Amino acid sequence: MTTVLVLNGPNLSRLGSREPDVYGSQDLEALRAVLTSDAGDEATIELRQTDDEGEMIGWMHEAVDSRTPVILNPAAFTHYSYGLRDAAALVTKAGIPLVEVHISNPHARETFRHTSVISGIATGVIAGFGFDSYRLALRAIIGLN
Ligand code: DQA
Repeated sequence: MTTVLVLNGPNLSRLGSREPDVYGSQDLEALRAVLTSDAGDEATIELRQTDDEGEMIGWMHEAVDSRTPVILNPAAFTHYSYGLRDAAALVTKAGIPLVEVHISNPHARETFRHTSVISGIATGVIAGFGFDSYRLALRAIIGLN
């Protein structure tokens, strides 16, 4: 069975209590449950979160080495982390799908959120659908495999 890495950047461990008007009231465990249910016997969901840029970069290297597709919510790293961009580019340049997701629609928010340094190397981008952004990304990845 295909494993899908679902990688979440800084402050997403606070989902549920963090700005519920923007990010909803469900937490990462609820996200894990819905994705695991959606995946059924088509994929194994490996969901992780980190506030550490280096750790996230290491997970990109792991995805390359294990040829594992990635659903990535880079959170604030989206807007400035060239280190993460370069690491994510290793994934897609190896022909492994990497879908950038956002719970909110960053383009409808503050100006600094309108720039993503990740989108240019991502296989695709899904934003603004709440947890359904991840669910749509999972459908895309299963379809691509
Ligand atoms: C986010 C949007 C980012 O701008 C923000 O820094 C986040 C979450 C989203 O999922 O909507 O932490 O990636």
